[in-house]
Amino acid sequence: MPQQVRAVVALAKGQPVSIETIVVPDPGPGEVVVAVQACGVCHTDLHYREGGINDEFPFLLGHEAAGLVETVGEGVTHVAVGDFVVLNWRAVCGECRACKRGRPWYCFATHNATQKMTLLDGTELSPALGIGAFADKTLVHEGQCTKVDPTADPAAAGLLGCGVMAGWGAAVNTAPVRQGDTVAVIGCGGVGDAAIAGAVFAGAVKVIAVDMDDAKLVWAKEFGATDTVNAKTEDVVARLRELTGGFGPDVVIDAVGRPETFRQAFDARDLAGTAVLVGVPNPTMVFEVPLIEVFGHGGQVKSSWYGDCLPERDFPLLVDLWQQGRFALDRFVTERIALEGVEEAFTKMHEGGVLRSVVVL
Ligand SMILES: NC(=O)c1ccc[n+]([C@@H]2O[C@H](COP(=O)([O-])OP(=O)(O)OC[C@H]3O[C@@H](n4cnc5c(N)ncnc54)[C@H](O)[C@@H]3O)[C@@H](O)[C@H]2O)c1
Ligand SMILES: [Zn+2]
Ligand SMILES: [Zn+2]
Repeated sequence: MPQQVRAVVALAKGQPVSIETIVVPDPGPGEVVVAVQACGVCHTDLHYREGGINDEFPFLLGHEAAGLVETVGEGVTHVAVGDFVVLNWRAVCGECRACKRGRPWYCFATHNATQKMTLLDGTELSPALGIGAFADKTLVHEGQCTKVDPTADPAAAGLLGCGVMAGWGAAVNTAPVRQGDTVAVIGCGGVGDAAIAGAVFAGAVKVIAVDMDDAKLVWAKEFGATDTVNAKTEDVVARLRELTGGFGPDVVIDAVGRPETFRQAFDARDLAGTAVLVGVPNPTMVFEVPLIEVFGHGGQVKSSWYGDCLPERDFPLLVDLWQQGRFALDRFVTERIALEGVEEAFTKMHEGGVLRSVVVL
C-alpha cells in the first residue's frame, strides 16, 4: 500500500518551504523504502529552493540522511529490512564509460528510484539529489543505501551522505592533499570544516581556515585548522601568502562557490598549486581570468563532485575513523530540529551560529 507521510517541500522558486503530505509508493524492483531517522540541512537544499539548481519544482528537499530499511522491492539483494543505512547520491551503474574505465566516481548514469513520490493531487516531486529525505519515509534505489555500523548516531552518520563527504573528499580524493602540503579552505561551513579535517588526515603541515564569521573560524580550529583568516577584515590572498612563507598554499579549496572566492583560490595557491572548487556556483555566475594567468600560474584547477567519493568504500571508513576518535563527525551536529524547523535553519545558515541543523524524526 502506498503510504502518506509528512515531508518538507519547496513548492515554488524562492518561496519558504512548507510541510506537505506526500505519497510514497511501495518499492518496485530494485527500490527500497527507508524510514528516515535523521537528515541534515545542507546549503544545496537552499540552492534548490532558490531555483539555483534547476526549475523542476516542486522539490522534496533533504539529502543528508540515515535511517532504517523498511520495505524492499523485488530483486533487492544489496540491503535487507531493518538495515541501518546512510543514503547516497552516487549509486554507480558499473556500465557507463566512466565506470568501465575504472573511474566510477565520475559515473554519469547513477541509479535513483524509478517510481515518483507525489503530492496528494498526484503532482510528481523532484527529490533533492534523487533522495528527498526531509520526510518520515523516502523511496530510493537499493544502491543509494550504504550500510554502516548500526550503533552510530543517525544525526551524525547521515551527514556523510553529502556535505561532510564532499568536503573530506575534496581534500583527500580530489586535490589530493599530500603529506607535507600547505592547504587553505575558503568557507568553513559543514563542507569546509570536513575539508579541513580531511586535509589534516592526509598529512597537511598547515591548514588555513578562511571565513567571514569569527565563530566559524573557532570551529574550524576544532577540526584541525592551524591558522585562520577573516575574509571580511583581511586581504585573503595576501594573508595566505604571508602564512606560507610568501609562496601560497599548495592546495586551496573553495567551499563557498562564488567567483570572488574562486578567484582567491586561483590566485593564492603556490605556483603550480591546485585550486579545488567544491562550493556550488549558481548558473549565472561567471569566472573570468586572463588566459596568460592560467598558463603562467600552472598547476591544476579542479572541481569536486561529492568529493569524488565512492559511498560503499568511504562511508564505512569515515564511521570507523569517527569511532576510533580520529574524525569528529558528531561535532558537525549543532542542533537537532523537527521537520517544521527547516525554513528557520536556512535563515541560520546565513546568520551563522550553526554548522549543521539536523532534522531528527
Ligand atoms: N560539490 C559537492 O558535491 C557539494 C556537496 C555539498 C555541498 N556543496 C556546496 O558547498 C557549499 C558549502 O556548503 P555548506 O553546507 O558548508 O554551506 P554553509 O552555508 O554551511 O557554509 C558556507 C560558509 O562559507 C562562508 N562564506 C560565505 N561567503 C564567504 C566568503 N566570501 N569568504 C569566506 N567565507 C565565506 C560562510 O560564512 C559559511 O561559514 C555550498 O555551495 C554547497 O552547495 C557542494
Ligand atoms: Zn556508471
Ligand atoms: Zn548536500
